[in-house]
Amino acid sequence: MSSTKKKELPVILREHAESQFADELAALAETDDRQRPPNWKLSPWAVTTYLMGGTLSNGAVIIPKYVGSRRLMEIAVATLATDRALLLLGVPGTAKTWVSEHLAAAVSGDSTLLVQGTAGTAEEAIRYGWNYAMLLAKGPSLDALVPSPVMRAMTEGRIARVEELTRIPSDVQDTLITILSEKTLPIPELNTEAQATKGFNVIATANNRDKGVNELSSALKRRFNTVVLPPPATVEEEVTIVQQRVASLGRALELPGDAPAIEEIRRIVTIFRELRDGKTEDGKMKLKSPSGTLSTAEAISVVNSGVALAAHFGDGRLKPVDVASSLTGAIIKDPVQDAIVWKEYLETVAKERDDWKALYRACRETL
Ligand SMILES: Nc1ncnc2c1ncn2[C@@H]1O[C@H](COP(=O)(O)OP(=O)(O)OP(=O)(O)O)[C@@H](O)[C@H]1O
Ligand SMILES: [Mg+2]
Repeated sequence: MSSTKKKELPVILREHAESQFADELAALAETDDRQRPPNWKLSPWAVTTYLMGGTLSNGAVIIPKYVGSRRLMEIAVATLATDRALLLLGVPGTAKTWVSEHLAAAVSGDSTLLVQGTAGTAEEAIRYGWNYAMLLAKGPSLDALVPSPVMRAMTEGRIARVEELTRIPSDVQDTLITILSEKTLPIPELNTEAQATKGFNVIATANNRDKGVNELSSALKRRFNTVVLPPPATVEEEVTIVQQRVASLGRALELPGDAPAIEEIRRIVTIFRELRDGKTEDGKMKLKSPSGTLSTAEAISVVNSGVALAAHFGDGRLKPVDVASSLTGAIIKDPVQDAIVWKEYLETVAKERDDWKALYRACRETL
């Protein structure tokens, strides 16, 4: 039986940066009169503007993607224009993946050439694999070869992304050495090679906390410029990041209800920062830190879950009761130790603050 009703196309849940911000990238390309490195879509200056935000000469507004030091982004972008690859290093939730995606989108117009590093990442994920049906039928040939994202980036002159580089076993990591130093990928089965074309480079990310899992060999380290992404320097910066991300996630998920009040976000960010730093903002009281990382990314998801609760089960305005349980969930990773730390914080810090009463009570109830 055939239906006459027109089928609606499914809506993509999360668009790639290059499609989500296609208008911004087009406006930047239009006004960009600075020199572009070979095969780059934009000049390094325009790529940095795409990351940091600004208003262009034609009036187009570029929203900031990265909140923090402009200089760090300039160093990252400049590195990509050299023969060295870029390693973004930092504690969890410091926007390494986020920056890497936006850099690839702005430089190559394509952020999808991605290898996700895990303990099980094999050499084929970085070099190439085979279409076995074709290999058996025709023997080894270029047609039967399945290029990895890195190999495609080499031949197309684009940026390849390697996520969580230090989780990849060392011998597999070393596959990158020839690629980065010789700019070529030997294909011994076909007695040939794939040579990188201009515009090719690699952005890798690695987590400080994974240090020691699979350290980078010094040979590989020398092929990278490392840029360390720090946690947000001030409460204001971190509040801005959370506010921006929650607003854009709310739009993407089409959540009804209001944008959360800034005071609510500020309280959550303050709790995260104080517990992370092991002292109160004014420096007067020492605090114990919980075992989890309490990153900005987690603050974003605490606020975001709260917004969803308020939108669907409340009156649309984010209140302390909406964030209390996910806040407690984010802080208590180890049920014994962290519960003590959190309880102590609530009793000695939160309870004493004038405009924190509602949050204090809501959190106490979750314990
Ligand atoms: N300085 C910042 N500027 C803008 N956004 C930020 C910043 N810091 C964190 N974020 C936000 O935090 C979220 C998490 O970032 P991301 O996933 O890139 O972290 P990560 O460093 O890759 O973490 P992990 O080590 O866990 O992989 C993103 O939504 C990003 O927008
Ligand atoms: Mg990441």
